[in-house]
Amino acid sequence: MKVSEAIRLRRSIRRYKSKEVEKEKIMHVLEAGRLAPSAANRQPRHFIVITDSKVKERLVETYSKDWFIHAPVIIVACADPNEAWVREDGEEYWKVDVAIALQNMILCATEEGLETCWIVNFDEQAEKGALGIPPHIRVVAMTPLGYSDEVKGEVSNRKPLEEVIHLEHW
Ligand SMILES: Cc1cc2nc3c(=O)[nH]c(=O)nc-3n(C[C@H](O)[C@H](O)[C@H](O)COP(=O)(O)O)c2cc1C
Repeated sequence: MKVSEAIRLRRSIRRYKSKEVEKEKIMHVLEAGRLAPSAANRQPRHFIVITDSKVKERLVETYSKDWFIHAPVIIVACADPNEAWVREDGEEYWKVDVAIALQNMILCATEEGLETCWIVNFDEQAEKGALGIPPHIRVVAMTPLGYSDEVKGEVSNRKPLEEVIHLEHW
């Protein structure tokens, strides 16, 4: 599958089949995250891979909705700000570094016929408590990973290019 095709086909999926995800597919997805670029190549990212239903149950309290725990796999994307590059004016880039890696993984999942959904609207402290994440680590996002149990078409509802592209100046 071409990258451009994966970009068009990827959708946020919130209903999953219980069918297990093959280990090789999970590894392929994780490898896509490992290969992602990061500022100054600091790679301040860590990913928690959850398949155990008891651990998934612990995540119910961290997010207002529980559809995501029905996916066979959940990946929690974290950053270690102490490892990350910081611009001279203090601007931090760990969130960008983790987001790029997670989106690489998500596009690779699409290539594998798997579905995902970015989730950030969780209680970060509850998430850290549920997963034993050290205090200095930040939780950036999570995504379910699995086979879709709903039908969605290609990406369509986006602003037209002319609304977002500025030629030569704003
Ligand atoms: C950074 C980010 C955070 C998101 N957080 C959530 C979330 O907490 N819960 C949720 O159900 N969807 C979440 N989404 C999914 C978006 O709602 C979805 O990507 C958007 O509506 C476009 O739909 P599509 O992904 O199917 O193209 C998030 C997406 C992004 C990129």
